Amino acid sequence: MAKETVTIIDNVTGKSIELPLRTGTIGPPAIDITTLYKKLGYFTYDPGFMATASCRSNITYIDGDKGVLLYRGYPIEQLAGKSTFLEVAYLLLYGDLPTRPRLDEFTKVISRHTMINESLKNFYSGFYHDAHPMASMVGVVGSLSAFYHDSTDIHDPKHRDIAAHRMIAKMPTIAGASYKHSIGEPFVYPKNSLSYCANLLHMMFSVPSEEYQIDAVAEQALDLIFILHVDHEQNASTSTVRLAGSSGANPFACISSGITALWGPAHGGANEAVLLMLEEIGDAKEIPKYIAKAKDKDDPFRLMGFGHRIYKNYDPRARIIREMCHRVLKRLGDENDPFFELALKLEELALQDDYFIERKLYPNVDFYSGIIYKVLGIPTNMFTVMFAIARTAGWVAQWTEMIAEPDQRIARPRQVYDGSPERDYVPIELRK
Ligand code: ACO
Repeated sequence: MAKETVTIIDNVTGKSIELPLRTGTIGPPAIDITTLYKKLGYFTYDPGFMATASCRSNITYIDGDKGVLLYRGYPIEQLAGKSTFLEVAYLLLYGDLPTRPRLDEFTKVISRHTMINESLKNFYSGFYHDAHPMASMVGVVGSLSAFYHDSTDIHDPKHRDIAAHRMIAKMPTIAGASYKHSIGEPFVYPKNSLSYCANLLHMMFSVPSEEYQIDAVAEQALDLIFILHVDHEQNASTSTVRLAGSSGANPFACISSGITALWGPAHGGANEAVLLMLEEIGDAKEIPKYIAKAKDKDDPFRLMGFGHRIYKNYDPRARIIREMCHRVLKRLGDENDPFFELALKLEELALQDDYFIERKLYPNVDFYSGIIYKVLGIPTNMFTVMFAIARTAGWVAQWTEMIAEPDQRIARPRQVYDGSPERDYVPIELRK
């Protein structure tokens, strides 16, 4: 079959060139513009990457118009209903669902890496007691390469694998320690007989002086939220991990850079921002006022947990989390939880409003996740940390995929320069 191409006609010079189309298994094809500058002398301009594919990937697929999300081809609804977080992490890392022995082995490997070097604990005493747990997490994860030199050779697939296991395994321990430090309680060591999420609950909520009973519903809810958050193709934090990794930086440093990008309220910080917004709204009768604020272009306020760059339909993850909210509240909280009621009403009113209809703004994954976290007793400033734990498995899968690409090269965007043309240096005495 002839290679499909697109003809670009340059109306300025009259030249025309053929550019190849890169076609994936599903989704729109992309015009390969890598030779555009050489052939026509132009860059392309796409701030915010509105229509730019930055890589080829076979990990996650999203159809934003239809509200479809697939991990390695499997619909999110099926994985959320039938799988576990570690099984999905395996799927993302290795491409296929594991057999029972493979999953058992993977689970064992991850649980063997849960402890962190004792010296890492000293880092926490350097943080002020009220440090945001995301701030300490960025620092501690970035410093992992100072402890685990034996897994930083990015060209060695074995090293890459060990680094991936270490990060997935140690993230809950680091998160637990960040939380314990922020409340002045002693760090709790991981217990490897527990599941991934039960271990996290144990490290966050148990104390040495008492028995701690893990609630099965809490464990299940966390596992589900982690499946929903584990990957989302080339979002801001994943692209940051890939960009940092493209220079050959070690994987721990790359994941730390992903955590910083995730923290912003337009991205993973939205789950924290949603709860703060619901607290601020306070009462259903105030909702119209806040919807009006969100629509007012002179007001920076936005409905947090609403809208998405890719989804122009209901975010499939939000639908699953909303259902989980009902179950969790029924078992652990109050089915008429005022925050949940407020969120449901806000969704209902926003989805009837022309502004939100015209712009196709729907609740995203983070609109309801904070309500579950709250019922589980997870404090608001830990919400984005929870997201980071889950997303780490996606980040390492994407990083590994990128490094393994034979023609991988440093990512280096171009720019349209808007500054002064060349000019001569003026001695200070002559400057006006
Ligand atoms: N409230 C009010 N208006 C909104 C909102 C919102 N939450 N989101 C988008 N809009 C409006 C914009 O003002 C814009 O209006 P205009 O066409 O009149 O200028 C239009 O909808 C398109 O929005 P953009 O900002 O251009 O969309 P973009 O793709 O750049 O941004 C984003 C997507 C950042 C998610 C945005 O919708 C937003 O800020 N949402 C709130 C924060 C949030 O929930 N983030 C979490 C995203 S999911 C995740 O990262 C896990």
